[in-house]
Amino acid sequence: MSGIRPTGFLHLGNYFGALRNYVRMQEAYNCYFMVADLHALTTLKETPELKGHVRRVLAENIAAGLDPDKVALYCQSHVPETAELYLFLNMLAYVGELEKTPTFKDKVRLQPQNVNAGLLTYPVLQAADIMLHRAALVPVGKDQEQHLEMARNYVNRFNQRYGEVFPEPYAFNFGEELVKVPSLDGAGKMSKSENQLATLYLSDDDETIRKKISKAKTESGGGSVEQMPDSVKNLFQLMRLVGKEEDAEIFMGHYNAGTIRYGDMKKKLAEDMVTFISPIREKAEAIRNDEVYLRRVMEQGAEKARESAKVTIQLAKQAIGLNYY
Ligand code: TRP
Repeated sequence: MSGIRPTGFLHLGNYFGALRNYVRMQEAYNCYFMVADLHALTTLKETPELKGHVRRVLAENIAAGLDPDKVALYCQSHVPETAELYLFLNMLAYVGELEKTPTFKDKVRLQPQNVNAGLLTYPVLQAADIMLHRAALVPVGKDQEQHLEMARNYVNRFNQRYGEVFPEPYAFNFGEELVKVPSLDGAGKMSKSENQLATLYLSDDDETIRKKISKAKTESGGGSVEQMPDSVKNLFQLMRLVGKEEDAEIFMGHYNAGTIRYGDMKKKLAEDMVTFISPIREKAEAIRNDEVYLRRVMEQGAEKARESAKVTIQLAKQAIGLNYY
């Protein structure tokens, strides 16, 4: 089970860090992937924007390979059992603990005029998402480790206080280490909010992709691999991710010989990137514009999610003692 925040445009980092992992999981597990629209309400003021964000994130996930027939792909607000479990869990969540959560403290700093209770209990809602399907494996990045630890606390408190219902959830990654996709400015990784020119979005058109890559930071000359600047290492990493290993090897040979021409390497990388991104972009656009299809995806996803949720709520109520007849 995992949640995807509807914050608009997905980028190459989201693709290699999360989406590709989901797509691999769907072949081996019973998966629930959810668009966390209720979580979005803790920070969003412009709620009319939600609709566009939710449709985009659904479309981009499907375009990247998630199959709504294989997994339950749904919107959080379409599964009201989430709110019911969230309420039960609130009785197991201590205010002092919630106030100490680093993500909460960050939000207090970012939006001091809107420190709402939903912000405080964000990790409780996230635990409800996971526990609703009695999920054990949660494909998320490092930044969610704290939230998962809190979810494990609620699981253990529930099981101890009321009876064994839930498994402990752990962060999960299918296959190798999760890939961090470097940004094009040689500093850090691609991110939604930071340098937009250094981040490649799955929605970027071919010209934009070419322009961003041609402006990517490089140093002059070549030399030993040990001395390779990060910005150049990043170009090689990107080429290995979206292009062919052989091509990366050829440019590596030029680099070692001190004859590398970064303009040529970037041109090749740009073409590899266009070949990689354009089919996803086009597919996502077609899906985004297909009202009927998207509605069917959401309805089908909610139906599958509620089926699993109803069983869990039944078990939880029984364990708590909320079964009077
Ligand atoms: N908090 C997660 C994020 O910021 C999103 C999320 C919501 C989530 N519910 C979840 C992740 C359940 C995993 C499981 O990305």
